[in-house]
Amino acid sequence: MNILILGSGGREHAFAWKIKQSPRCDQLFVAPGNAGTMEIATNLPIDVLDFQAIKKAVVNHEIQLVLVGPEVPLVEGICNFFHNDKQLTDVMIVGPEAHAAQLEGSKEFAKDFMFRHQIPTAAYQSFSSDQIGDACRFLETLQPPYVLKADGLAAGKGVLILEDIAEAKAELKNILTDGKFGNAGNKVVIEEFLKGIELSCFVLTDGKNYKILPTAKDYKRIGEGDTGLNTGGMGAISPVPFATPDFLKKVENRIIIPTVEGLKKEEIPFVGFIFIGLMKVGDDPFVIEYNVRMGDPETEAVIPRVKNDWVTLLEATSLGKLNEINLDIDTRAASTVVMVSGGYPEAYKKGEIILGLENVHQSMVFHAGTKEVDGEVLTDGGRVLAITSFGQNYNDALEKSYKSMENIFYKNMYYRRDLGLDLQERM
Ligand code: AMP
Ligand code: GLY
Repeated sequence: MNILILGSGGREHAFAWKIKQSPRCDQLFVAPGNAGTMEIATNLPIDVLDFQAIKKAVVNHEIQLVLVGPEVPLVEGICNFFHNDKQLTDVMIVGPEAHAAQLEGSKEFAKDFMFRHQIPTAAYQSFSSDQIGDACRFLETLQPPYVLKADGLAAGKGVLILEDIAEAKAELKNILTDGKFGNAGNKVVIEEFLKGIELSCFVLTDGKNYKILPTAKDYKRIGEGDTGLNTGGMGAISPVPFATPDFLKKVENRIIIPTVEGLKKEEIPFVGFIFIGLMKVGDDPFVIEYNVRMGDPETEAVIPRVKNDWVTLLEATSLGKLNEINLDIDTRAASTVVMVSGGYPEAYKKGEIILGLENVHQSMVFHAGTKEVDGEVLTDGGRVLAITSFGQNYNDALEKSYKSMENIFYKNMYYRRDLGLDLQERM
């Protein structure tokens, strides 16, 4: 079968690497892809939001299965576009339609959904720009820190956590009336601060059945000791050592089942990945957020552990036959360390030559922001490479990744050397 993956990050390279291992995969395409996907698939220079160009490629290359990596095309309705186009209705596409994608596309939609289905999450209220007074009064009923969330997609930057109420009120105004996050901030969700430790859980659903993929924990802040600005993710480990079987049973019973059943009850078909950002408060799980795609860099640690044939798995998802699948999970741990461009997540330089990739043998090297020019691999983004290794536990896997990274060099490279240390302190 010919397959197309949409996206260009480490997540998409990891998916391509896995799908390529299936004997059922004939030609594999990635749009637009990166220097890593180019080695194992055909990159197509198409923007993930250019639905007409995607259609043309699907028809020309006789593509039968499409996997959508990032959230924006999902929220913009790429799956509706496929389902409604006569030439594309037979193509299997893995991802939710726009309505279901609102679980990620609108914080208010997600919170209201959780409220309707009694799914544990932080207490909240949402406000629009004509409700600043009410919003300030609601803030006064809460204890610091104050959590403000722009309703719409804001590339991971739309959440503010503030200690001081005057600052919280000022930021509220910046978002609601001064366009700090553009249209994403037309509404703001204010919620209670949850104190605990975060982890992510991933569910693959065909709308009726679901499979729970391995858990992961990502490291979001740029600086060691979890300091500094938020990034798209500086590394990830899987499984999460503090996600005990008892805790995961609670996640399944209180969160996953009510989510899948709630979508069914409301007749919102969901085909694809539900990525549930969780806070473990004491021994109980609370939902921080839903995403309607896999995480990046979590995918780079989770997908290598799922031993199933991914063409069969994605096909079953698209055809509503996930009940016929048994997941086969590698019992080893996998850890991913992300190498970034110096300066990220603020301004950084692109186009630096990456050396030494051919000398890495103990780890998987997934490309994130790279491109190939005249046979050389150049940096082309903030997050450049994701180095994944297997190990008996997350630490052993991390050590292997760090060792592999000694072979890699580009100007101004940076990575966190402290991944996993927070967990040792907890043990
Ligand atoms: P989100 O974009 O919803 O993932 O939020 C970004 C980050 O803000 C999360 O990964 C958490 O670290 C933090 N966060 C979001 N909501 C809360 C909350 N209610 N309590 C504590 N931390 C939160
Ligand atoms: N690593 C977090 C995300 O993919 O949203």
